[in-house]
Amino acid sequence: MNTFKVANKILGRRLLTQSKRCVSSFDTVGVAGLGLMGHGIAQVAAQSNLHSSVIAFEAEQQFLDKGRARIESSVSTLVAKGKLEQDAADKLLSNITYTTNPDDLQNVDFLVEAVIENMDLKKSLYSTLGSTCKPETIFASNTSSLSITDMAEISGRPEKFVGVHFFNPVQIMKLVEVIHTKYTDPAVFDQAYKWVEDIGKVSVTCGDTPGFIVNRLLVPSLMQAMLMLDRGDATVRDIDLSLKLGAGHPMGPLHLADYIGLDTCYYIVQGWVEKYPDEPAFVIPDCLKKMIDEGNLGRKSGQGFYHWNGEKRGDPAI
Ligand SMILES: NC(=O)c1ccc[n+]([C@@H]2O[C@H](COP(=O)([O-])OP(=O)(O)OC[C@H]3O[C@@H](n4cnc5c(N)ncnc54)[C@H](O)[C@@H]3O)[C@@H](O)[C@H]2O)c1
Repeated sequence: MNTFKVANKILGRRLLTQSKRCVSSFDTVGVAGLGLMGHGIAQVAAQSNLHSSVIAFEAEQQFLDKGRARIESSVSTLVAKGKLEQDAADKLLSNITYTTNPDDLQNVDFLVEAVIENMDLKKSLYSTLGSTCKPETIFASNTSSLSITDMAEISGRPEKFVGVHFFNPVQIMKLVEVIHTKYTDPAVFDQAYKWVEDIGKVSVTCGDTPGFIVNRLLVPSLMQAMLMLDRGDATVRDIDLSLKLGAGHPMGPLHLADYIGLDTCYYIVQGWVEKYPDEPAFVIPDCLKKMIDEGNLGRKSGQGFYHWNGEKRGDPAI
């Protein structure tokens, strides 16, 4: 193992043990991007009652309105189901400030970025926020597959940069991977790790490796299932049934790939193949490429490895 890997391993261990001792939190939190993930992150941050305010930012008013409607609808559902008191719901909603002006983020203590998965867009945002936010602001990206290190380098504050990888749906899924790079200040990492726990999630630590822990294990396993199809080793039904009944997985890998979206799976692996051409676990199966070319994207398009009727899965399609 080289010196860098050893240093990173030791840093990871130190960060983990230190984080358990921290008690501080952030007064204000910003969330950039209020889509599928960002609206949930803003909501759980506001619901934690830890912050004097949560500032929710979108670059365009129509998307800001959409994000706000998503939060309001999610909170109404919680109230209707008796999972949240009306008073707490009102407090949660009044704790969030909505804005399209990036300057409103300049004094936040912790900024979680959940804009679309595009490195050029993220770099441009970090370059702007790096110069407008106060020097103490800690940046945290929710990226699933992009390099935290590359974003940290453009931000002008690499030592105050971490990854916080939430899972969908944010309101329900407990796990958050907290990512450090070779630049991350251990005290900064500890604050981020502690914040995740404070808002009611479970933190795990990982270095800046593609896919972090969950997707690094999960996505290549989906690709292996597809490679079995390419080779004609087994059918869609038998591959999925095997991991369900033989390994206790809640759904098979091809069912899961359809559920995630075959385009999402494809773009994650394509990015990894381009960046790490020598990593044998990163491959694009022929059947995946073919389905993308044919517009069969899984559940969202009505057909992938299975036929879909909305949320309901039908028979195998290949
Ligand atoms: N979808 C998932 O299951 C999932 C899970 C974990 C992590 N992620 C990561 O979370 C991030 C967001 O993914 P998503 O699924 O919520 O995407 P999404 O498309 O639902 O939301 C992205 C939001 O970013 C907004 N946006 C675009 N440019 C912006 C800018 N310059 N400033 C502010 N907002 C801007 C868009 O208007 C949109 O509302 C990505 O990095 C993705 O990899 C996604």
